[in-house]
Order: sequence, then C-alpha cells, then structure tokens
Amino acid sequence: MIYLDNAATSFPKPESVYRAVDNVLRKSGGNAGRGSHGLASGASQSIKETRARIAGFLGIKDPMRLLFAFNATDALNMAIKGYLAEGDHVVTSDIEHNSVLRPLSGLEEQGIITVTRVSVSTEGFIDPLDLRKAICSATKLVVVTHASNVLGTIQPVADFVDICAKKGVALLLDAAQSVGEIPIDVESLGVDMMAFPGHKALLGPQGTGGLYVRDGIELSNWREGGTGTESAMPTQPDNYPAKLEAGTQNLPGLIGMGEGVKYLESRGIKEIHEHCMNLIQRVIDALLSDSRFTVYGSTDLTRHVHALSLSINGMDPAEAGLVLDQTFGIAVRTGLHCAAPIHKIIGTYPSGTIRVSPGPFSTTDDIDAFINALYAIAG
Ligand code: ALA
Repeated sequence: MIYLDNAATSFPKPESVYRAVDNVLRKSGGNAGRGSHGLASGASQSIKETRARIAGFLGIKDPMRLLFAFNATDALNMAIKGYLAEGDHVVTSDIEHNSVLRPLSGLEEQGIITVTRVSVSTEGFIDPLDLRKAICSATKLVVVTHASNVLGTIQPVADFVDICAKKGVALLLDAAQSVGEIPIDVESLGVDMMAFPGHKALLGPQGTGGLYVRDGIELSNWREGGTGTESAMPTQPDNYPAKLEAGTQNLPGLIGMGEGVKYLESRGIKEIHEHCMNLIQRVIDALLSDSRFTVYGSTDLTRHVHALSLSINGMDPAEAGLVLDQTFGIAVRTGLHCAAPIHKIIGTYPSGTIRVSPGPFSTTDDIDAFINALYAIAG
C-alpha cells in the first residue's frame, strides 16, 4: 500500500511514537490527577511535560494557555461555542472545512449569531480587503483556515491579524493543515486562538489536538466534570486548562503527540516541508501541461502545504480513487474533503477532486507510482 493521504491523517507514524504509546499502555497507564499513587502522579507529570513541549514548539509562553482537545474539530468547537454570545457577528470564508462551517451555521440557524462568508479566488486565497470589508460593528470573531485542506494554499494570516487588531476583533485560526507542516510561532503571529490536530503533521495518534487561547481571551466551557483538582467544588474550576479539560485525558494519545513533536524537532520541520513540496512539485510537473488532467489552486509552492487537488478530465474522482486503491494499491482522498463551498468556486462541485498529500515518509518512488497510475487510468 502506498499511502498519500497525510492531509487526512499522517501514516505511518515515527517508530518513537509507536514505542511511546505502547510503553504508556503497558507500563505507566495511571489516570493523570486522579489519586496520589505513583502511576497517577507519573501520568500527571507526563502530561505536564507534553503540554510544555508542545507549547514550546508552537511559541506559547504559558503552557496553561494550551488546552488539549480530541482533534481540531473539538478545539474549534471549544473556541467558537466558548467565545460567541447571542447577537454576535462572525466573519469566515468559503475555503473553510466543515469543522468551522458547521458550528457557525448551527449557531446561525438557531438565531444566535449572524455570519458573513467572504469568497476566495480560484487560486485558493482570501483577499484581506474582502475580510476587512466584511467586519462590522457587531463582529466579534473572524474564523479562517491557515492552509486549505483542499488546495493546500496558505492564507496571508499576518494581514488578517493586522486587520483584526485594528478593528478590535478576535481571530481564530484553524491550523489543521499547517501545525507541524510549517514553522509557527503563534504568539509572534499574533492570532488570538489557534486550533490544531495531533494526528496530522504533528505525527501523533488520532484523538488528539489542541487549542491555544491568548491570555485575555476568556472562553465559557460547555463540557463539565472531573478535573482531579478542587474536587469539593460543585461547579467547574475557573482556571486554565482545567476549565476546559473535563474528564480523563487521552494519556497514550497525548504522549504520542509529544513524541511526534520530538521527531519533528530532531528531523527538522523545514526539511520535512521541503521534502513534501518536492514531491508535490513532481506531481505538478507531470500533470500541469497534460490535457488529460486538471490541477487546482495555486501551483506556487512558496505558499503551499502538502495537499494538492487534481482530476482526471471526464472521470468521477470517486471512481478514480477506487481504481487507485484497488488496482494500484494507492491511498488518496477523493470527493469534497468536508469543504463543499470551495468546490463551487473551482468548478468541482459536487463530485470534488482527487487529493494527493505526501508525508515525511513518502518517497519519490511513491509519487512516481501515483503519477504512472494516473497515466494508466487516463489512457
Ligand atoms: N480534515 C481531514 C481531511 O481534509 C480529515 O481529509
């Protein structure tokens, strides 16, 4: 099997991630914060160290402002539903994933908030001027993706930060496809909140993720329960991260995510990104001027992550995906990729695209096999 679906979830993981998860489950699986025995306190210590490591990796000075979540969707829900109140207006875009679109549309349908969705170019970029024009006096939050999971394009976030700061509006960044893929120092970048998964470019297990919340931004919690602290209190403690982290932590997952970060630190995130971009460039070079194929979005890889959308002209992407899987043993994602509006803009709605996304362990041979399979399918 050749796995080229790392934008959905990274696979394989580094050996060190497998070993760490196995080790936790076999040898140190206490419940963090619950009890004073060695296994429980060891688990608490491991979570503390993991939080500090990931905070350091992302440029978060106070690790307590990094909340653990179960994936990027969970983190985005924590931010969106914890921050917004009745009457608020939100600005988002047409290149968002359902993890942003659905929570916002849900609140909109209930009459709690109003939403303006700015369009994007066919290349896959939000125009900062459009974003600025969409902000009004009722706007409380701007929610945008950092890098598109469909087109791979990286948005001009520094411009968005500037605009939001001038307008006094909070900016929530969906970094599902950028954290671990490109270097991010979140406090220098200046966003107010950032949601990310642990199982994609951070190379951790599924069921992990996080939300950075800038000091000064307060979220209400919609999940309540045990925290292992202040147990006599009838209501949720108010301090971070306990306020938003009720219930038993995903200890093996979090330790695995921390090991993924260690791997990125030792191999070098820039080296991995360059490796993936070389592989994407190889696909572009093979298909761009071939009339049997269409490549979508910007092919300028200076503002790109490891996801590229394409199609075999005249063929349903789902059918192509089936043949790639069953005849050639190649795993890619096909369809709308949980992000329908952008397909209306690039002309691929409702059947979507074939999305190829190499990872740190993908090789030139993998990509050549993919290209040759496409040539064979297209005839
Ligand atoms: N959001 C993930 C993807 O784009 C699952 O495939």
